[in-house]
Amino acid sequence: MRSTSLTTCPLLLSSPLLSSPLLSSPLLSSGLQGCRRFHSSAVNYSSMLLEADSERLYVGARGAAFALNASDISASSALTIEWEASHEEKSRCLLKGKDNKTECFNHIRFLQRFNSTHLYMCGTNAFSPLCAYVDEERFVISSQPEEGKDKCPYSPTTGYTALIIDQQMYSASQYDFRSFPDIRRNSPSPTLKTEDAPTRWLNEADFVGSALVRESFGSDGGDDDKIYFFFTEKSQEQTTTYSHSRVARVARVCKGDRGGLLTLQKRWTSFLKTRLTCSLPEYDFHFNMLRSVFVTPGDTPQDTRFYGIFGLEWKNVKASAVCRFSLSEVQEAFQGPYMENQDSGSKWKEYTGKIPNPRPGTCITDALRARGINVSTSLPDDVLDFVRRHPLMSRQVQPSDGRPLLFRRTTDYTRMAVRVFEGLDGQMYHILYMGTDDGWLHKAVEVNGKLHIIEELQLFEDPQPVNSLLISEKQMSVYVGSPTAVVQLPLSSCRRYTSCYDCIFSRDPDCGWDGAECVDVMTHSNRSTLIQDIQHGSMGCKQAQNGTRSVRVGDDALLQCELSSNLATPVWTREGSEVQGYDLNSGFRRGTDGLLIIEARQDQSGTYTCHSLENNVRVAIVSYNVTVRLDLPPPPPVEPDRDSFVVYLSLITILGGLCVVLTVVLVYVGFCLRVGQRGKYSLRAHRGSAHMELQTISSHCNGNGLCNGVAKMHNGGLEDGGLLQIVPGEAYTSPSREPPPPECDFPSGLSATLPSVLRRMHGNSYVLLRQSDSENTSPLCHSFSEELNKILEKRKHTLLLPRPDESSV
Ligand SMILES: *[C@@H]1O[C@H](CO)[C@@H](O)[C@H](O)[C@H]1NC(C)=O
Ligand SMILES: *[C@@H]1O[C@H](CO)[C@@H](O)[C@H](O)[C@H]1NC(C)=O
Ligand SMILES: *[C@@H]1O[C@H](CO)[C@@H](O)[C@H](O)[C@H]1NC(C)=O
Ligand SMILES: *[C@@H]1O[C@H](CO)[C@@H](O)[C@H](O)[C@H]1NC(C)=O
Ligand SMILES: *[C@@H]1O[C@H](CO)[C@@H](O)[C@H](O)[C@H]1NC(C)=O
Ligand SMILES: *[C@@H]1O[C@H](CO)[C@@H](O)[C@H](O)[C@H]1NC(C)=O
Ligand SMILES: *[C@@H]1O[C@H](CO)[C@@H](O)[C@H](O)[C@H]1NC(C)=O
Ligand SMILES: *[C@@H]1O[C@H](CO)[C@@H](O)[C@H](O)[C@H]1NC(C)=O
Repeated sequence: MRSTSLTTCPLLLSSPLLSSPLLSSPLLSSGLQGCRRFHSSAVNYSSMLLEADSERLYVGARGAAFALNASDISASSALTIEWEASHEEKSRCLLKGKDNKTECFNHIRFLQRFNSTHLYMCGTNAFSPLCAYVDEERFVISSQPEEGKDKCPYSPTTGYTALIIDQQMYSASQYDFRSFPDIRRNSPSPTLKTEDAPTRWLNEADFVGSALVRESFGSDGGDDDKIYFFFTEKSQEQTTTYSHSRVARVARVCKGDRGGLLTLQKRWTSFLKTRLTCSLPEYDFHFNMLRSVFVTPGDTPQDTRFYGIFGLEWKNVKASAVCRFSLSEVQEAFQGPYMENQDSGSKWKEYTGKIPNPRPGTCITDALRARGINVSTSLPDDVLDFVRRHPLMSRQVQPSDGRPLLFRRTTDYTRMAVRVFEGLDGQMYHILYMGTDDGWLHKAVEVNGKLHIIEELQLFEDPQPVNSLLISEKQMSVYVGSPTAVVQLPLSSCRRYTSCYDCIFSRDPDCGWDGAECVDVMTHSNRSTLIQDIQHGSMGCKQAQNGTRSVRVGDDALLQCELSSNLATPVWTREGSEVQGYDLNSGFRRGTDGLLIIEARQDQSGTYTCHSLENNVRVAIVSYNVTVRLDLPPPPPVEPDRDSFVVYLSLITILGGLCVVLTVVLVYVGFCLRVGQRGKYSLRAHRGSAHMELQTISSHCNGNGLCNGVAKMHNGGLEDGGLLQIVPGEAYTSPSREPPPPECDFPSGLSATLPSVLRRMHGNSYVLLRQSDSENTSPLCHSFSEELNKILEKRKHTLLLPRPDESSV
């Protein structure tokens, strides 16, 4: 089989024979489009540290830590600290009933800067945590490791977050499985904790993140800095509308907190928490499980944003939502009413009684100092007692715009990182990089309260969760940690877009068209000469309406033509005469949103015109001057790797090579492309025959974007009789599931990922060329793209991934 790849990143398979000792030199050079990979015999690359102007990427793994050259992590200059649990500790761990294949190791879970010369690092040490200082220069542990029980969880998988701020360590976890979850300040004294009695402040909390917000900066009231913690916990509050066992929370404490004198001694006096909601209320979907957060600072502390990845409580339903919260909303909630429970056992309700003064849970501010309270130990007892019993606020924090930026079924995002970049239109765009549980990286841009997915990259041949994600503007790289490797990718890959249309349609703020090629805006010397359209993804290319298209021989191209009338029929002409026949042998396929040229031949060059035919009147809508050329560069300039260690990585890496089966299944589903346009399609491709039909069968979308059903892919699809069918309008069914999964993918105008143009590249793969314009699109439709992606992806997995032959290394 021909080994072809869309990849830009060579996959290094971890081979124990080759990767011992710990520090293995990279097996392959990694020059392809700047993607680099590091791996060693260590696994579980779960913590990473890279500071703004640093040259080094620090990585914590299982039993080892590494200092990598941040500009090229595959360079052989890596420094290593081997730090594994002793045999005695491992056998004690086994006696505790732990798994000696996964848990009884020293999983490094914390790695951060301590001071200008030292880092601090904590590991689970086979269920007996230890922490140690690391001499940064020499990259060695600089003193005897110390007790880590109060700073680091025992287990490698327990939710955990920690920060070092001014050499004090703040950590949050359920450290030991017997203990209650706790938010601590560990050093120096007084150490502070959360309260367990009479009111338990945290209930089975699963921590995902924390952040310092310097709210003292520019504060005219002498406010304190605050530390925010993000987690999911068991719900306490009573609500009339819904009941959930778990809810997402944000909690905060003040950095200057010293605890109380008698009441709340060695406890936070400033702990408050509230609920973060991320829901699609009209469908009663509540994304209660917080999986990851990313905090983006603003010009002032008030402009701080919290991005969160949320999931559903139903474990067997894959779905993710991304919500954004503003710090000021969170602050408002902490200024609002408190909750309380009168008698333990009952649910919590809003507290309506008298609130003591000074307001419980606030930091020490100038107003308090003026009253002689300059430290939390001076707070009156009634205030502290109130704090002790009222940790929960009544007001929930709603996401900006009241709804998710993105909702995606069939994807479980695990981690994210966000950067801000100025587009050529002068606006600041937030660009999100999100890793999935199966090893993909999605890049998205936030435009007008919606996330537009720019590209999807497959990073690993074997599906594996993204455990950590970092961005470096200086290195212009994204770093992704997973169980088997660390991958370094460029922030953008503009050269992948070979035409002006592709470049503009991508809506990638990093990319601009310079008249000849799609270039990286950041490295281009003259930004004013570049074209970009992030807002609409449509403007700028010359003759955007009547396009000139250059198509490589053998590729597929879609000439778009959307008829404004439902009653009109499209008629295509080439060089003035009507295009004959739309079966596969003709090389053309006609759909309601355009004409597809399949496996373009040079004799298919020419001027194509789309006409709208209605009541026997033919009106020309759009023309394309198509040139089918031999000399176009293959899309990603990749040679099949001789070592055949090749990862299939692309926008949507869809490899369809072994398609004896499906001579061509080109699926473009232009659903409901305008609000109000009703249509429903059934697409069938029969195995082994050149028969394919694209029909409109009925309507299930109504004008306001609500839908009666979602796409269903018959399980029998490809395997069973070779019938590939996408039938919208039927309830989605899957084998075992309760409660029912979402009925509709994008209930109201959430981000679009519908590929309205697919191009086959390299003879066996598809690349998404154009995202549909979400403004015009009925949201339901996007589900089909996901179904489509799944089908194509499945085909890729079943047909194309060769097992690399290790002997060929
Ligand atoms: C890191 O890698 C870059 C590029 O390969 C190289 O120029 C630089 O010298 C390396 N830095 C160190 C500290 O090895
Ligand atoms: C784990 O412990 C079992 C005994 O319970 C032993 O047979 C096995 O070899 C151990 N595995 C490893 C990797 O140490
Ligand atoms: C940083 O902390 C380490 C460990 O406590 C200490 O040995 C070192 O002297 C400190 N460095 C500076 C510059 O204070
Ligand atoms: C608090 O104020 C008192 C008197 O105003 C002063 O003696 C004390 O040192 C102050 N404490 C702190 C921690 O600043
Ligand atoms: C560590 O990596 C192995 C595979 O390499 C994986 O099975 C395991 O779940 C990982 N453990 C953690 C805690 O990530
Ligand atoms: C950038 O391009 C513009 C328009 O072509 C031109 O006027 C300007 O001189 C160029 N600037 C530089 C620094 O090349
Ligand atoms: C585009 O093509 C159509 C049909 O050939 C023609 O009527 C229209 O004037 C063209 N528009 C432009 C901007 O060239
Ligand atoms: C179509 O484009 C080709 C190459 O760009 C050009 O040579 C040709 O004149 C164009 N034809 C028309 C009708 O515009």
